[in-house]
Amino acid sequence: MTRVRLAPLCGVTDHVYRTICAEFGCGTAYTEMISAMGYLCAPNQPATRELMIRGENEPRLILQLFGKDPDVVAEAAGRIAALGIYDGIDLNMGCPAHKVASSGEGAGMMLTPDKAWRMMEKTVKAVDLPVSAKMRTGWDEARIDVIEYALMAQEAGIREITIHGRTRTQQYAGQADWEIIREVKRRVAIPVIGNGDLTDAKTALERIADGYADEVMIGRGAMGNPWIFRDCRRIENGEEPEPVAPEERRRVIRMHYERMLASRPQHVAVREMRKFIAWYLHGMRGASRIRVEINRINDPGEALGLLEQFFAGTGLRDETGPWSGESPEN
Ligand SMILES: Cc1cc2nc3c(=O)[nH]c(=O)nc-3n(C[C@H](O)[C@H](O)[C@H](O)COP(=O)(O)O)c2cc1C
Repeated sequence: MTRVRLAPLCGVTDHVYRTICAEFGCGTAYTEMISAMGYLCAPNQPATRELMIRGENEPRLILQLFGKDPDVVAEAAGRIAALGIYDGIDLNMGCPAHKVASSGEGAGMMLTPDKAWRMMEKTVKAVDLPVSAKMRTGWDEARIDVIEYALMAQEAGIREITIHGRTRTQQYAGQADWEIIREVKRRVAIPVIGNGDLTDAKTALERIADGYADEVMIGRGAMGNPWIFRDCRRIENGEEPEPVAPEERRRVIRMHYERMLASRPQHVAVREMRKFIAWYLHGMRGASRIRVEINRINDPGEALGLLEQFFAGTGLRDETGPWSGESPEN
């Protein structure tokens, strides 16, 4: 099993996409973050149930919770663990979104170490599953205290920590600080999963080989790119990464589309597939044009037909196809 995980990504890593990544070799994935309070108040609410689906062939799935009240988080974790569906519970201490962090949830926990301690300690006691935590390097430049948080997590019984090498105020700007991730790895005995800006399999595995982290996690680099996990496996087996042939890309987009249609109402599937198609086609000649077209179409058959037409054109050398005349990376 590759030591490269799929990151939790709201609006992206649902069970359909996680299953596709698993088929390409991803061994560990997370649910999108789920509100502990939301779950306790309405565990059967359709949106929550959807987030909690475990795909049939998902090898290892960790459910991620966020919340600000340690008792509420621990209670939700206990009930969810008792369902017997998941392999672990992860505590979100990294979400930078204003409405989350400013109310003390997600990265807001990086401002309240006492509360973070209680949340971790109580959750560890409430569940029989391994509990992990995902955090940022700190709140801002002036408060980079991930080492203290990591030591505290270890003390609380947290089994592994993921560190996204940015502060909350950085959001997604600048570059992830891998040196601090390496420093945390030196200071704690529990596994450290490094995260931030990994967009190719080779670099991801180098981070592990170079001692920055025990495992790594890929987020944005896996959007529309499940092949990154296949490449990780290939490199781990001593093989070279493989370029993705247009025919293979076409096959996976179609498969993804069909599985989305089978898993939710048509209008929702069509809407959600628009962004995936944009990611899958990113960098291909004519991609911006087809993206505009796809965003106008509400009929899945028409969208799939357009994609077939697009891919039929990718084999053309004379650039006279309907999508010719654009530069790559558009
Ligand atoms: C669209 C999007 C949604 C995200 N949702 C979550 C989430 O639900 N839980 C979480 O812990 N992190 C979430 N993150 C953060 C990622 O898991 C990851 O830490 C971050 O993107 C950095 O990794 P990357 O550079 O590989 O993308 C999200 C990030 C993005 C871009």
